[in-house]
Amino acid sequence: MDHFLYRDGVLHAEDVPVAEIAAKVGTPFYCYSTATLLRHFRLFDEALAGMDHLVCYAMKAASNQAILKTLAQAGAGMDVVSGGEYARAIAAGVPGDKIVFSGVGKTHEEIRAALSTGIRQFNVESEPEMEVINEVALSLGKVAPITVRVNPDVDAKTHAKIATGKSENKFGIPIARAREVYARAAALPGLKVVGIDVHIGSQLTDLDPFRLAYRKVADLTETLRSDGHDIHRLDLGGGLGIPYTRSNEAPPLPVEYGAMIKEELGHLGCEIEIEPGRLIAGNAGIMVSKVIYVKSGEGRDFLILDGAMNDLLRPAMYEAHHDIVSVKEPAPGIEQQPYDIVGPVCETGDTFAKERMMAPLAPGDLVAFRSAGAYGAVMASEYNTRPLIPEVLVHEDQFAVIRERPTFDEMLKRDTIPEWL
Ligand code: LLP
Repeated sequence: MDHFLYRDGVLHAEDVPVAEIAAKVGTPFYCYSTATLLRHFRLFDEALAGMDHLVCYAMKAASNQAILKTLAQAGAGMDVVSGGEYARAIAAGVPGDKIVFSGVGKTHEEIRAALSTGIRQFNVESEPEMEVINEVALSLGKVAPITVRVNPDVDAKTHAKIATGKSENKFGIPIARAREVYARAAALPGLKVVGIDVHIGSQLTDLDPFRLAYRKVADLTETLRSDGHDIHRLDLGGGLGIPYTRSNEAPPLPVEYGAMIKEELGHLGCEIEIEPGRLIAGNAGIMVSKVIYVKSGEGRDFLILDGAMNDLLRPAMYEAHHDIVSVKEPAPGIEQQPYDIVGPVCETGDTFAKERMMAPLAPGDLVAFRSAGAYGAVMASEYNTRPLIPEVLVHEDQFAVIRERPTFDEMLKRDTIPEWL
């Protein structure tokens, strides 16, 4: 459920008419709903009630500091995957002991920064990384809390580009080698083993792959404990999918996911961490764009928008579907027509949808891409020297620009011309 609904014939973000925001900030832009973000965070938090737990929002999904602050104030921790994300989380007021650091390529500098300011744990992805964390910790006179991310070799049954838990993927350490790797970790004085980490992929629409992976983690917990390791924390990753279309069968709910976690892992008495990103931010955001032209092509009409693949990459990159709705509510019973919906970027891949049935639209009309809150703004680029589009956060009847659209001057100033030119 989200808070983008038609009221009085126009799409609202909570209590704000979307067209009012467009008039103020121009198009295209991203718009997030505070109530939806909080609702989704709380669904997870409540789903794990009764277990010692922390919901660490995977901020790669949407990392504006205003979003982080909104979630942190509700009690969320953060899952970060780079020094930049770590810096954002700290700047948004998240304490270090609520930040977990994931990712296969943590650099010396990133590890040093996190250890110096404070970190809940590093989720270690390889043996060489483990050695480096140990060295950096010792050089700072600290002990680094770690989990090892295990790769359970489970098929997440999702898009190949976002599956991470199969043995051919670059992530984690093969679960079969875990005992050996934990033995090495225990021998390194700069490390303190606190638990196990697993993450098998994103946009999972079935609980079975999670269940399979978590069973393997439960077995491993017992094995490692019998080897003498203090396994008291399980980081179960993110990945629960969201409905991208109204018609699709809905993926499992957080409450069902939480019940499964209790069933599979509750007996171990571990503190549970989860790292959801998409489910918290996805349906809490829309991208609003304006029709520039309607062009009649060979046997089809193109709707040419001012938003493009550089603003919302998911359709071009993953053939992802986003519902696209008119900001002005179509009159009931109005006949729909098929459109190919495209952006102005000079690539055929800059296509958001083909033969999408829509009520007739005209230049100047506004449309909203639904479910664009996660992996939307964060994956945008300035391809074709198109400025990164603004982000707006709505809270009840108020809205604020939380990232401005840069001017061309600001963009151009970032280039420097060598003196020989
Ligand atoms: N934890 C780790 C270690 C991850 O790698 C990810 C996502 C998450 C948590 C959060 O997963 P979520 O709950 O959001 O599914 N750009 C792609 C998605 C990439 C996901 C990468 N890792 C997309 O637009 O579909």
